[in-house]
Amino acid sequence: MENATPIETRTPKVRKMDFPFADADVPRWWLYDNPVMTHMANGLNLLFPPGERFFIRSVKHYLDRIEDPGLRKRVKGFFGQEGRHGHEHERANRILELQGYDIQRFLKLYEKIAFDVLEPSFPPVLRLSTTVALEHFTASMAANALSLPFLDGAHPVMRQLLRWHAAEEIEHKSVAFDVLQEVDPRYRVRVAGLIIAVTQLFGWWTVATAMLMSQEQLSREEKRAWRAEAERTRMKAERQQRFELFQRAILDYLRRDFHPDDRDDYELAAAYLESVGR
Ligand SMILES: [Fe+2]
Ligand SMILES: [Fe+2]
Repeated sequence: MENATPIETRTPKVRKMDFPFADADVPRWWLYDNPVMTHMANGLNLLFPPGERFFIRSVKHYLDRIEDPGLRKRVKGFFGQEGRHGHEHERANRILELQGYDIQRFLKLYEKIAFDVLEPSFPPVLRLSTTVALEHFTASMAANALSLPFLDGAHPVMRQLLRWHAAEEIEHKSVAFDVLQEVDPRYRVRVAGLIIAVTQLFGWWTVATAMLMSQEQLSREEKRAWRAEAERTRMKAERQQRFELFQRAILDYLRRDFHPDDRDDYELAAAYLESVGR
C-alpha cells in the first residue's frame, strides 16, 4: 500500500540544540513541584541516552541491506536525531548530579544488564523489532506531550527539551518500522519485539524512578500523599486513565496491518517546531 504522507515529511531533519540547562536554575522538583512526577520523568530521561544509542546500533546493523535511497536518507536522519537526543538528555541528566542525586549507580546497572548482557543475547532482528516497538511508544508519548497541557507544569527548559524531543520522535516514527518491513516483515517478529520492549521499558523505568525517590528524605506517608497528588494532577492535565496511552499504543501495534503513519500527527510536530523557529 502506498504511503499517503509525502516522503519529505517523513524524512527527519537533524537540529542541533544547546539547551541552557546549567544557567536555567532547574529546581529539584521541576515537574508540578512534585517529587513523584519529577522522578517519573527523570527516570524516563535516564533511559534515553543509552536506549537511543541502542536504537542506532540496531538499525545500523542493517544499513547495507537498505537499497531504497529515500529510506537510506530517512535512516541517516534518524541516526542524527537520536544522537542529538542522547546528547541533550545527557546534559540534562548532569543537572541531577549537580542537584545532589546519585545516578551513576543506576546507569551502571542499566548499561551492564540491558546492553552488555541482554543485547548481545538477542539476534539482530529482535534488537531491531524491539527498537521498532520502543519507537512506537516514544511516538505515542510524543503525541501526548504535544497535544495535551501536561508539560505546562514543567520548568521551561525541561519543557523545551521534552517538546523538541517529542516533535522529532514524531518526525522519525516510521523509519525503524520501514527498515524492519524490508528486513523481516513477519508479524511474530514484530510482536516478539513488543514483548521485550514492554518488559524492558517498564522494568527499567520503575527501577530508575524508585532509585531517585529513595534519595528523597520523605516518610512513607509523605510519599503516599505525593503519589495521590500526582495522580490528581495527571488526571487533570491528561484527562485519561493511567496507562491508557500504553494500552491504546499496544492495541494499535497488534493490528496486523499496523503502520506508524496510520496516525497522521506530522502536522502536530511541524506546528511545534515552527512555533520555536526550528
Ligand atoms: Fe529520541
Ligand atoms: Fe526515536
